[in-house]
Amino acid sequence: MGGHGFENERFTLLCVDDDPTVVAIIKRIFEKEGYDIHTASSGRQALDIMGRVHIDAALVDYMMPEMDGLELISTMREAHPGTMVIMVTAHGGVQEAVQAIKLGATDFMEKPFSVEAMRSRVGNLYRIWQLKRENERLKQKVEMRFGYESLVGDSTVMLRLKELITKVGPTDASVLVEGETGTGKELVARAIHHQSRRCRGVFVPVDCGAIAQTVIESELFGHVKGAFTGAHTAAKGLIRAADGGTLFFDEVGDLPLPMQVKLLRTIQEREVRPVGSAQSYPVDIRIVAATNKDLSEEVGKGRFREDLLYRIDVVHIRVPPLREHKEDIPLLARHFVMESSRDVSRVRDISPEAVELLERYDWPGNIRELANVIRRAAALGRSELIMPEDLPPTIREAKGSPAGLVRPEGSRLRDYERAAIVNALSLSGGNRKKASRILGIGEATLYRKLARYGLASEPGGG
Ligand SMILES: Nc1ncnc2c1ncn2[C@@H]1O[C@H](COP(=O)(O)OP(=O)(O)OP(=O)(O)O)[C@@H](O)[C@H]1O
Ligand SMILES: [Mg+2]
Repeated sequence: MGGHGFENERFTLLCVDDDPTVVAIIKRIFEKEGYDIHTASSGRQALDIMGRVHIDAALVDYMMPEMDGLELISTMREAHPGTMVIMVTAHGGVQEAVQAIKLGATDFMEKPFSVEAMRSRVGNLYRIWQLKRENERLKQKVEMRFGYESLVGDSTVMLRLKELITKVGPTDASVLVEGETGTGKELVARAIHHQSRRCRGVFVPVDCGAIAQTVIESELFGHVKGAFTGAHTAAKGLIRAADGGTLFFDEVGDLPLPMQVKLLRTIQEREVRPVGSAQSYPVDIRIVAATNKDLSEEVGKGRFREDLLYRIDVVHIRVPPLREHKEDIPLLARHFVMESSRDVSRVRDISPEAVELLERYDWPGNIRELANVIRRAAALGRSELIMPEDLPPTIREAKGSPAGLVRPEGSRLRDYERAAIVNALSLSGGNRKKASRILGIGEATLYRKLARYGLASEPGGG
């Protein structure tokens, strides 16, 4: 999975210079190396190309009419932050070179350059590019081995969730996963399976709400040939199909009462009796169930059997709604951007302004809704960055505040500063390193300010 499709992609180099001889030389050198070369004679043309093709590295000449190299580099850093840049200056152009590095250029070279020097400096960028890709591939491999490849998030609640999964995974105990729609219940169930001794066995999902009532019994428990009209052949059923693996009952609250009785018996006796059969078959399954309802309430209303609940709710895992861990939004958004850029889109990242809007929204559809918003924005996006205008109106107009914004209690500057700090702490889930990054100040400065405002022992703020 993943990784592939990367393999054949070539290193893409853009040469921007108004001198056609230089362009021709560069083209000749690097076409031989097998790079994909694009050329532009002005800054405008370069940006135009970068709007259409993903460029890994660019050689930018300083002296150009209209837009000089520095101007081009600063524009590029905004719209294409992933592109590496080598600035090419006239001999003695140290001043411009320093400026270029400050703007984010990776390297600089003086004109005239030797072919050898040029080859070796671009070669450095090529190796950085290869390493980045290699890293990406390794990361995917590691994630796949640990099973929860897609449980993204490093907020306190998500870390606690992952820890719990690691703990209960290997126990073989039944698990009830509770959470709102789109929070990742199925992912959690799959992660549990991957963490268990059954990981080489199958994971069989059963969508209890989607199977027609008339066929649900034979779907689950199987049937013998001729058990009912239309049963021309025997069927094993989903429970026996999951033998040796994990059976995932999605929306278990939708299971009809008679099926609940039969399932309970299967769990207790570790046997399945197909419809129309006199014989029972032993099964070895682990049960993980998911619900977005409060099942004890359902028990109270007589819609769910208490004895079955008792059997499946041995370990209870609550998956938090996204609004309870908004700190994960930037990471999740980037994760879905990466996912999209692997196939269709050339969008590579998301702008801070767009992230801020995402953090203001309340996400009733949780992570699934976020994934859909990002995928749509990536498909429509005009640049490499997702911008606020790529987001749907409901999100652009969200009035909410990131994790409940605190308003200053006065209007003195220090009141605002205090409120900003409290907000940053709450956004970062109390993590001071992150909070200082949000505020754009050093950690030491943050500590001083925390002490000054009497916030030093108030981890979460607001
Ligand atoms: N922590 C996460 N990291 C990355 N992707 C996630 C995460 N949680 C959920 N997703 C993604 O969000 C989508 C919804 O997840 P999932 O189907 O597991 O939710 P669910 O709780 O089962 O939803 P429903 O109740 O509607 O069935 C999936 O595409 C899933 O990959
Ligand atoms: Mg689900």
